Amino acid sequence: MTELARIAQAMVAKGRGILAADESTGTIGKRFERIAVENVEENRRAYRDMLFSAPGLGQTISGVILYDETLRQSSADGTRFVDLLTRNDILPGIKVDAGAKDMPLFPGEQITEGLDGLARRCTEYVALGARFAKWRAVINIGKGMPSNGCIVANAHALARYAAICQMTGLVPIVEPEVIMDGEHTIDTCERVTEWALQETFSALANQRVVLEEIVLKPSMVVSGSKCAQQAGPQEVAERTLRLLKRTVPAAVPGIAFLSGGQSDEVATDHLDRMNKLGGLPWALTFSYGRALQQPAIKTWAGKAANVPAAQAALLHRARMNSLAAMGQYSAALESR
Ligand code: 13P
Repeated sequence: MTELARIAQAMVAKGRGILAADESTGTIGKRFERIAVENVEENRRAYRDMLFSAPGLGQTISGVILYDETLRQSSADGTRFVDLLTRNDILPGIKVDAGAKDMPLFPGEQITEGLDGLARRCTEYVALGARFAKWRAVINIGKGMPSNGCIVANAHALARYAAICQMTGLVPIVEPEVIMDGEHTIDTCERVTEWALQETFSALANQRVVLEEIVLKPSMVVSGSKCAQQAGPQEVAERTLRLLKRTVPAAVPGIAFLSGGQSDEVATDHLDRMNKLGGLPWALTFSYGRALQQPAIKTWAGKAANVPAAQAALLHRARMNSLAAMGQYSAALESR
């Protein structure tokens, strides 16, 4: 097995998943606003320090996705975050896209930028200790959206990114996110997600990306957030799994979902139901941002005295999702 295939398998190892803590400076600013914490480098560092030094985090978390600034930062005692994570058996990862930008001539749609100079940046990230990378494509559903132009351009960018990662020594997390916002039905979400995944795997094949050396990070098949008819959790689980079986080759070692605005416990429940259905060719786990961090950031609220309680909140969500990744979760465990 290649080194990258080994890393990809470790990222989705049994009962473990990924913590997405790669919010850009702008995005973490929005999260800090809600807890009235100033968006300055020291606060961003202190927040990530709280997350990464949670005792025993490596039991349930296989990897953490970092932002460029965070990859270069250190814990309060001077230990580089990369070393702190590695010591706890957690693989450091890095967001390498430059963000989803308005797509020229496609009003309402977005294209992810960041391919120029990417090989050079990836090489530096490997030297700094990163072992995997993330690139997020954004697909919006709306009137006349998504367009073929948007689906194809984003799939192409994902595949070019993945090829560059594999060449430079990083496992690419391939993330085509179909956004939940909107009035669309779960049927529409399913159709669009199927289209996006088919185009993505076609582009990956064109760019000679090695499927054994990637992790797929898709959104789940859900009703639009403003749809009057909300599908229940079992329907979400069944439709998502049926779709993934149709579109994702068995050579892919694992699928790690994004939470995309689902509430904490709903995201855990969906993952658990899929694993309970079983019979899967790939590992099915989590790569949650908000659904792992929400209770922790609220508890922390920027105060050093709250660090132990905030870490306990993070560890609890990580444990619940770890159980869900093995199909062993139940809502009753939440209160224990
Ligand atoms: P959410 O789980 O909050 O959607 O974040 C995951 C992520 O990394 C989005 O790119």
